[in-house]
Amino acid sequence: MQRTLVLLKPDCVQRRLMGKIISRFEEKGLKIAAMKMIRVSPELSREHYAEHVEKPFYPSLESFITSAPVVAMAIDGLEVIQVVRDILGATSGLKADAGTIRGDYSSSRQMNLVHASDSEASATRELNLYFSPDELCDYEEIGVNFLRAADE
Ligand code: CMP
Repeated sequence: MQRTLVLLKPDCVQRRLMGKIISRFEEKGLKIAAMKMIRVSPELSREHYAEHVEKPFYPSLESFITSAPVVAMAIDGLEVIQVVRDILGATSGLKADAGTIRGDYSSSRQMNLVHASDSEASATRELNLYFSPDELCDYEEIGVNFLRAADE
């Protein structure tokens, strides 16, 4: 079982797409372990996007990600890091396959609606940035035996 960090970005909040996008994860059978709406500060943006801070597009990315609230989610599931990346689609909404979130709802590289961790190391780092241990909910899923076999 893995855990990943998902952010519904300011464009998702402002376009009132939160419900539709959360539904994609629920309908896939993934488990939401934590969820909260917060405003990303410039400091948090720089920590989160540390690998992009020196890139030419970073000032625009920071201005966008701090422009309105985001919804941070911790999502659990088997191979969930790759599964969620596949549900999101390619970074640019112009390149993402139809049927993915970005392919269906985004026409932009920057305003691509959702962020998700790209590796186990990123997931651990990013979950620690957005959630304290007491915010992660430990609960038993009802009906999980209809989502996957016991040996999967
Ligand atoms: P995300 O998955 O959150 O990871 C980094 C973000 O930077 C990415 O989604 C896009 O929102 C943004 N991004 C990546 N590449 C570019 C680019 N070339 N120009 C502008 N924004 C970009």
